[in-house]
Amino acid sequence: MMRMERILSWTTQLLFVSLVFVSYVRKGDAGLTSPFVRSEWPAIDIPLGSKEFVVPEGHNAPEQVRITQGDYDGKAVIISWVTPDEPGSSKVEYGTSEDKYDFSAEGKFANYSFYKYNSGYIHHCLVDGLEYDKKYHYKIGSGVSSRKFWFQTPPKIHPDSSYKFGIIGDLGQTYNSLSTLEHYLQSEAQTVLFVGDLSYADRYHHNDIGIRWDTWGRFVERIAAYQPWIWSAGNHEIEYMPELGEVVPFKSYLQRYTTPYAACQSSSPLWYAIRRASAHVIVLSTYSPFVKYTPQWKWLREELKRVDREKTPWLIVLMHVPIYNSNEAHFMEGESMRSVFEEWFVHYKVDVIFAGHVHAYERSYRISNIHYNVSTGERYPVPDKAAPVYITVGDGGNQEGLAGRFRDPQPDYSAFRESSYGHSTLEIKNRTHAIYHWNRNDDGKKVPTDSTILLNQYWASNKRRRKLVKPSFGTAAF
Ligand SMILES: [Fe+2]
Repeated sequence: MMRMERILSWTTQLLFVSLVFVSYVRKGDAGLTSPFVRSEWPAIDIPLGSKEFVVPEGHNAPEQVRITQGDYDGKAVIISWVTPDEPGSSKVEYGTSEDKYDFSAEGKFANYSFYKYNSGYIHHCLVDGLEYDKKYHYKIGSGVSSRKFWFQTPPKIHPDSSYKFGIIGDLGQTYNSLSTLEHYLQSEAQTVLFVGDLSYADRYHHNDIGIRWDTWGRFVERIAAYQPWIWSAGNHEIEYMPELGEVVPFKSYLQRYTTPYAACQSSSPLWYAIRRASAHVIVLSTYSPFVKYTPQWKWLREELKRVDREKTPWLIVLMHVPIYNSNEAHFMEGESMRSVFEEWFVHYKVDVIFAGHVHAYERSYRISNIHYNVSTGERYPVPDKAAPVYITVGDGGNQEGLAGRFRDPQPDYSAFRESSYGHSTLEIKNRTHAIYHWNRNDDGKKVPTDSTILLNQYWASNKRRRKLVKPSFGTAAF
């Protein structure tokens, strides 16, 4: 009898383990669909007046302070802020010691209206001629209302400069968004690559749209005032609202968030490139014309030629809408951009493409569909070692909630997918290796998340080049 009970117990355990295994790895698929279901806060915005949106004390005190890279190579920052009551000063005082500001730079300000909302005075100040790998302290505002912050410049452009990027998308301003920011702070990443959809202010009506842009600016200041956010625009930045008399796309976004587009010969702040440490980062605009002969298409064609993998081995592309996405939400919305740019991404061996838009996480294998041909019937993505890894990180935690329905079965190109909130980090170690990690907002519990080692597409795929520098660790997944 005892023996029979033991056999039954083992059989039950075996069945349980098998079920768990089958839920992770389904027949015929190499990819994983995580069964994790996260307990979450409701997908509603943090109320106005909450401490997360606190207005700094003092008359006309600078608020919504943020920085972004100010040039092509990381020796400049653009510091932006808003003064609510009057223009005030656009000056930034800065230096390499705390409370000793040996230098200053003068910026400019502007304001705008949206429906009947009038913005505060939005200041942008370019601080250039900085030294690499140095901590700078800066002060804005005047008298008792002045405020102090600091930032660290990146190491010089060099193929083996190590650097840690964070990737955040579709953030919004809920308690889930706050959790993402708090988890990001623990990651010790040095620069945010933001993949579009910032405030979700366009979900509001009339003057509340402008008000929610302001709350978001104060919300992210806790990080954005201290390290650069590399901006890209999503659909929630378009704000085409003829019912309010507002028909100029990206009006609020372009007034508030500036980019160093002129330094890379771009004609628009919506698409541009920067070089930072050992990475060349290209930002594309899903919602601007990109077909053949358009300004964005022409600019990208030239920018890709300027990429020098001997100096910046890591080629990273940001865009809002993912090209490969197996979620029911926004399925195949990236197909138009794929048909135009995928061939270039493969030809130039882009390492990784980060996107947002889909409110879930997904990572692809290296695949391409560049042989797609409407006449011959060739239509499937195939494994392609020269292709980028596509990663969707639209899981910042905005008020629209999670995209919980993935397509079934999981397509062969999908390596890992999970519908949870979180952010990613890309830790570049040297010219050949980078550690990629997706960090689920884990409620403080230790949980498995997605990680992989990325082998550089230029240095690690060529035996002659690889011999020059031996990888310092580990085996590689891609
Ligand atoms: Fe979006």
